Amino acid sequence: METFTYYNPTRLIYGIDQTHELASQLPKNEKILLVYGGGSIKKNGLYDTVLDQLNQAGAEVTELAGIEPNPRLKTVRRGIELCKENGISFILAVGGGSVIDATKAIAVGAKFDGDIWDVITKKETATAALPFGTILTLAATGSEMNAGSVITNWDTNEKIGWGSPYSFPTFSILDPKNTLSVPRDHTVYGMVDMMSHVLEAYFNRVENTPLQDRICESILKTVIETAPQLLEDPTNLEHRGTILYCGTMALNGVTQMGARGDWGSHNIEHAVSAISDIPHAGGLAIIFPHWLRNSIDDNPKPHVQLAVRVLNVDPEGKTDQEIAEEGIQKLSEFWTSLGAPNRLADYDIDESQIDRMAGIAAANGEFGRYAVLNKDDTARILTAAL
Ligand code: NZQ
Ligand code: ZN
Repeated sequence: METFTYYNPTRLIYGIDQTHELASQLPKNEKILLVYGGGSIKKNGLYDTVLDQLNQAGAEVTELAGIEPNPRLKTVRRGIELCKENGISFILAVGGGSVIDATKAIAVGAKFDGDIWDVITKKETATAALPFGTILTLAATGSEMNAGSVITNWDTNEKIGWGSPYSFPTFSILDPKNTLSVPRDHTVYGMVDMMSHVLEAYFNRVENTPLQDRICESILKTVIETAPQLLEDPTNLEHRGTILYCGTMALNGVTQMGARGDWGSHNIEHAVSAISDIPHAGGLAIIFPHWLRNSIDDNPKPHVQLAVRVLNVDPEGKTDQEIAEEGIQKLSEFWTSLGAPNRLADYDIDESQIDRMAGIAAANGEFGRYAVLNKDDTARILTAAL
């Protein structure tokens, strides 16, 4: 296990009806920017509850609506202008990972003199941010309790993950009721995304990580056990709550203490959605099994462990390679059974786009820590996923 320092300043407020704790968490009598997406919070009534809580806190509210799924740089820039023009001192994000990620970039950009894209592309370093809190409405990304953010620049077809010590939410409210209205497809994508985050962590080359491995396995097994029950009964608050908690634990840094994961599949998916704007975890469900297959080598220890401990593959009389392959098959079948896509063709992506996507994924050279990949490797994985 490697040395590590763990830092996480986000106050997590979890539970049914905890949305009503919002006013107590907000700074009093401040100018607050309320950031949300394309209108789901107006349809399910959360918007009214949030405005009531903002009023209770004496907030002077400015709104930024319409954050896109796969949030865009131009919208982030609009949010930064709003902060600067209106003297905003706190931001409240109400939505899924896209709303929270955009808010992180707005919060840092509001305290940065240059262009936020230079921070996102790591040419410049963030030195401060406006404080912000979140009300999470979709269990998926873990953005509610990490400092990461993913922003797309459609002028350059780049979708880039970045983060800073200043982009942790000060608080995040996780009320399972706020996820009841998530439609079936996004409920599935969310579960695939959190499983993928755990798998990215699980595939590392660090020796002696027994606790890290079992933390990962427990999250994976909990999602595998709960997912079919939730899809059968989407209004079940216990199942919604379990999945909500899994999503946060999957990417709040706990799984990666002392062993940083691979993250190549995410890099490839970001290149795909930088061109085709598909849902993040729809892409992961397609790409991850092919990444796994591509990364089986002479010592496929995590592959075998995953297959046996998580996917119940019987190892008796089989080679490591056969066990690994059976595990990948079972994982892929599980995601397909939930309704996730399994071919790039499901999103009308064909051979003609592979070279460009592989080029974007490898634009900064080789990537991935468990399996080091270049452009050709990426093209091979994407071609297998067509
Ligand atoms: O925009 P609204 O109207 O709110 O609708 C959203 C959106 O259409 C809808 N939705 C959210 N909550 C809902 C709801 N609909 C009904 N009821 C609710 N309660 O769901 C749709 C998708 O929302 P989005 O926020 O885009 O989904 P998700 O949370 O999966 O976020 C995806 C983004 O996060 C990035 C992805 O790349 C993608 O851009 N990621 C961020 C990470 C991070 N910050 O740590 C890590 C991830 O790996 C990921 O890359
Ligand atoms: Zn993800």
